Amino acid sequence: MDGSPTPDAVILLAKGGYGEWPQCELDGMLAAVRATRRYPHVEGAFLDSGAPPFPSVLRELAERGATRILIAPVFVPLDRSLREWLPKVVRRSLKKHHLEKVEVVLAGPLGERPELGEAVVRALPAADSGPDVREGAPRDVANQWLKPPPHRHHVFMCEGPRCATLGSHELFVRLRERLAERGLAASENEAGEGVLAVRSSCLYPCNLGPMMVVYPEGAWYGALNERGIDRIVDEHFGNGRPVEAHLRFQPLPSQDGMRSRDRAPGAASP
Ligand code: FES
Repeated sequence: MDGSPTPDAVILLAKGGYGEWPQCELDGMLAAVRATRRYPHVEGAFLDSGAPPFPSVLRELAERGATRILIAPVFVPLDRSLREWLPKVVRRSLKKHHLEKVEVVLAGPLGERPELGEAVVRALPAADSGPDVREGAPRDVANQWLKPPPHRHHVFMCEGPRCATLGSHELFVRLRERLAERGLAASENEAGEGVLAVRSSCLYPCNLGPMMVVYPEGAWYGALNERGIDRIVDEHFGNGRPVEAHLRFQPLPSQDGMRSRDRAPGAASP
């Protein structure tokens, strides 16, 4: 022990991904850590591509009265970008809500702790179950996953760490819902008039986030919010009219570069 006060809250920080698996794994680890009753508050949060996002969990714990919060990266590489970026997110998030007095500390990489290895070894016998992985697995995939569904627009919603901080995961969920409501999801629009919407990692103009780019037009949208998403679905995808209020870049007429819309409201750098 180094004499530091014991944290009264812990955030298990994870990196998101596709499907339910990241959520399931984090939920399992959360339950295990909570069962130890070592800390009064233990919550999970995703750095990107998942919910709840880290800034909202941080704020919620601070508002609930936590005075020292320990961030424990569990499924996330504790790399240089995280070390440099995380302090900015913490500073901005707590300052915005006047919670600067809360102390926030970052745990070292848990994967390097021998205790973690011992815990894994203890857990393995119970987790070791089931038949050979090849049993029951589909063999014939010749006709699957060979071509994209027909579509008119291809959309990349940034779920990199900075845009995720600004709510891009929730916006992606809303985009998918709105497209489905309007029959514009590519997977359901057999006429090929739909939108193939996917998530991406950082698209680079982080300070203008949340960012989304639409092809074939090459329309880069920024400072997105729920209303902006609804308008883009209705006006751009529904009627072919890009939404100027959120348009940040578009290709030059010669197609040999990008022209700024010379408009950069919205998000500040985390
Ligand atoms: S994180 Fe979205 S543009 Fe960088």
